Amino acid sequence: MLESAKTPLVLLDSFGQLAVYAKLENTEPSGSIKYRTVSRMLDDAITAGTLKQGMGVIEITSGNTGIALALKGKELGYHVAIVTVKDATERAKSTIAGYGAELVEVDGWFADAQKVVNERMAREPGKWFWLQQMSNPSSLAANYDLGIEISKQFRELFGGSIDAYIGSVSSGSTITGVGGKCRKVDFSLLGGPIHLH
Ligand SMILES: Cc1ncc(COP(=O)(O)O)c(C=O)c1O
Repeated sequence: MLESAKTPLVLLDSFGQLAVYAKLENTEPSGSIKYRTVSRMLDDAITAGTLKQGMGVIEITSGNTGIALALKGKELGYHVAIVTVKDATERAKSTIAGYGAELVEVDGWFADAQKVVNERMAREPGKWFWLQQMSNPSSLAANYDLGIEISKQFRELFGGSIDAYIGSVSSGSTITGVGGKCRKVDFSLLGGPIHLH
């Protein structure tokens, strides 16, 4: 692995001139790419002074962001509250709880979860930092950096450029950040999202 690269890039298969590589984001400490975005969102909030020691971090999420936030929050010493749906996977819920985060389960989905967050923030003003991954620009910044990492790694390891990038989509931050940055580096790039849910 290259020094600048956090995670490996491995050959999955090749067909004649075409080769398919995978970036192993599952080797991030929390098991997904969301460790990068959550780390960047917290670091930027700490630098900006919007997240201070003694405050809690709250987020609405049903999966990988919650797991990453529970782990990173614990590492940095913040209380983390994850608001999620009752039918989120047992694996996600037990991992989040295992990292010591508070798990608040709601019956419905976004509107109910948002009510929980709004009530908490109104009841304890100044106590909570709401991550808001769907609109937090630091998430996109982390994915731009990942796009640079992939392009550099690809060039240095395999001496070529990327023709197409495929990623999954929730907020769109990964496909916009990684795809956008790779496209700037490798002008011929085709981008394509896939939905894994
Ligand atoms: C492992 C993984 N990769 C990628 C994504 C895509 O995320 P986004 O579109 O929010 O960047 C998700 C979303 O939940 C995810 O869990």
